[in-house]
Amino acid sequence: MSGLLAPNDCTGIEAALDNPATPEQLTPIYTKSASRGRSAWWIIVLRVLELGLSGTRLRAMHMNTATENRQVLIDSLPQGKLSVDNYRFATGPIPEAGDGEVLVKTSAFAITAGTRAGLQGSASYAGAPQAGIVMNSTGVGEVVSSNSSAFQPGDQVLGPTGWQTYSVHGAKQLSKIHPDVDPVRYLGALGVNGLTAYFGLLRIGQPQPGDTVMVSAAAGSVGHLVGQIAKIKDARVVGVCGGDDKCRVLTEDLGFDAAVNYRDGNFRQSLKEATPDGVDVYFDNTGGHILGSALFRMNVGGRIACCGVVSQYDTDSPEPGPRGIPGLLVNKRITMRGFLVFDFASEYQTARDEMGQWLDSGRLKSLTDEVSGLEAAPGAFVDLLAGGNTGTRIVRLG
Ligand SMILES: NC(=O)c1ccc[n+]([C@@H]2O[C@H](COP(=O)([O-])OP(=O)(O)OC[C@H]3O[C@@H](n4cnc5c(N)ncnc54)[C@H](OP(=O)(O)O)[C@@H]3O)[C@@H](O)[C@H]2O)c1
Repeated sequence: MSGLLAPNDCTGIEAALDNPATPEQLTPIYTKSASRGRSAWWIIVLRVLELGLSGTRLRAMHMNTATENRQVLIDSLPQGKLSVDNYRFATGPIPEAGDGEVLVKTSAFAITAGTRAGLQGSASYAGAPQAGIVMNSTGVGEVVSSNSSAFQPGDQVLGPTGWQTYSVHGAKQLSKIHPDVDPVRYLGALGVNGLTAYFGLLRIGQPQPGDTVMVSAAAGSVGHLVGQIAKIKDARVVGVCGGDDKCRVLTEDLGFDAAVNYRDGNFRQSLKEATPDGVDVYFDNTGGHILGSALFRMNVGGRIACCGVVSQYDTDSPEPGPRGIPGLLVNKRITMRGFLVFDFASEYQTARDEMGQWLDSGRLKSLTDEVSGLEAAPGAFVDLLAGGNTGTRIVRLG
């Protein structure tokens, strides 16, 4: 694999976050402000997805009872694009919690782009998913039984549930959620992707009032929050995404100043027109040709926050990095800096407090894009990589 940024740069982010060696371990992650206004701000987009499952598989799923643990396993690592056939369903006994362990029943989990990078098969500091194991994800759920004094049955928790109905965890892998808050909030704005948007923009991009901030994958989970936080910081915000409908959501619902469809043949010219004063901060979720176009719009002294490379995840042959590096970086004195969200783990609570206040006041909207049922997960992931989601894609279990 070649390129400016290895496409697996974000491999294992979720896994690493799901196993946090952070100061917030065992610490309730809710705050007073985060527990108010439970859903007044919440925009929920329900989607019915075609699953692409055979009738046989669906019938097998429906025959299962609630006494079993149902799982989605990685059947094979994808060759080329991810397919639902890279997954298989399995059932087994509900696991038992050992010493110091906690049994959790999953209520929902997030489907995020970074986990596709892990499926490219390259090992990273956090490991890489392999065939035969449960698909990894961050989820929320209820404690069923606990052999840890830190958790009681009925507690709502956040942790590395994966795509399965029950899972056992060491107590340090779980964080408590306030019982009055919709736990799903901790998969969106107050979760991994919300924290990524917050720290990537504010610490790496460092927007100043009046700056022009550009963000790619702007209607996705990280992106739609980046743009709104930039607006809160009095920047002018331009989103780049893959559809005219998404562009309208950004400008009409979320307050972006402009939005540009990168699938449009006139993209470069449209981006130029949308950024008449150039770009001071580019939050890069995609790499590829959108990064290439952004480089030519950067102002002297601009900052590029390298968050991810989603344009190069769903393939065996990622493109090389764009032209203009390092030439444009030198001539325009641009800072281009990568980051991982857990670089800021010691400050998660501060970020959650501030974003909780923004959510409660209506200054920040957290879009979720939900599907229902474990059997929907593989199709929902394939669809996300094709741009089917708006906001954070979440799978809710019954
Ligand atoms: N650095 C970190 O610590 C960290 C942590 C979390 C996530 N991330 C990164 O953040 C980025 C966004 O992740 P997410 O979970 O929020 O996903 P997301 O944006 O909710 O979903 C992925 C989106 O990527 C867009 N996309 C797919 N193929 C594309 C292509 N070829 N070119 C341009 N856009 C494409 C699609 O939207 P369109 O309709 O616009 O195409 C799709 O909706 C990823 O790169 C991820 O790796 C980084």
